[in-house]
Amino acid sequence: MASNEEELKPYLITDPQEMSARIDELRRQGKKIGLVPTMGALHLGHLSLAIAAKNECDVTVVSDFVNPTQFAPGEDYDKYPRTLNADISLLSKIGTDFVFAPSPDAMYPRGFDATVHVGGVSKLLEGRFRPTHFDGVCLVVLKLFNITRADIAYFGQKDYQQVQVVKKMVEDLNVPIQIDMRPIIRERDGLAMSSRNQYLSDEERKESLVLNRALEKAEELVRGGERESSVICDAMRQIIETAKDATIDYIHIGDPKSLVEMERVSGDVVVLLAVRIGTTRLIDNRLIERK
Ligand code: PAJ
Repeated sequence: MASNEEELKPYLITDPQEMSARIDELRRQGKKIGLVPTMGALHLGHLSLAIAAKNECDVTVVSDFVNPTQFAPGEDYDKYPRTLNADISLLSKIGTDFVFAPSPDAMYPRGFDATVHVGGVSKLLEGRFRPTHFDGVCLVVLKLFNITRADIAYFGQKDYQQVQVVKKMVEDLNVPIQIDMRPIIRERDGLAMSSRNQYLSDEERKESLVLNRALEKAEELVRGGERESSVICDAMRQIIETAKDATIDYIHIGDPKSLVEMERVSGDVVVLLAVRIGTTRLIDNRLIERK
């Protein structure tokens, strides 16, 4: 029994070269590789991506790496939760084949000097508040794509702008990979799952529900025929302001691909928001598609 359980455990790899060598061998056998990039502290949102990869690919790799280059000084890099053993144990339950958990030095050895910058969509929204963030995301994601040479990479809609930035990078740089976006997994009360939710106090956790409520309101208004973005944003703002510890960074209604702001809603739109509850910054979004 014990040895069977042992066999189900994903294989932990920390060395990028070893990861590439393993994948080379599997690719020679014609295996389809699925990659789920994560920073660990896994919850059901991450696991939904790993399950999708498992269902669609022959071999699944989940990367578990808190990427220093996407955090600005003063952000939560040091306090970001690191729970590798618990992550491996969760992934063993869903049959993930490899966990790739390199050290920062292995990914960025002394003398590392490359950058990846995608303009356009990366400059808006999160890019305004975290100007170096998407350069760091693109850098690590491109490295992970090259190390694992995955056929499909799975990303969550939770980080909607991230998906659009990664897609643009893949398109502009002819990276041979398919990007698959999966739905947001929420707590029962509607809060989008996030590793950062654990920073919230009990009171803040209750207040955090205003994000999803505001997004629901936006959808209700759009479906009811409201076309003025300013009216929709005002209604959302009113809901968010009922939380006493909430500070709005942005509420934005934009084109689903370029994220460029739409003053009037026409066709499909995405509504995105970033709100600080106390000192914890939460993001959420809703894609409203014309049925
Ligand atoms: P992380 O925040 O760990 O998220 C890893 C992946 O899980 C991302 O694609 C994210 O959108 C997805 N995810 C997080 N919460 C989710 C939820 N509630 N429902 C569905 N998917 C969810 O995003 C990153 O890490 C990093 O920027 C990374 C891409 C790994 C690069 O370092």
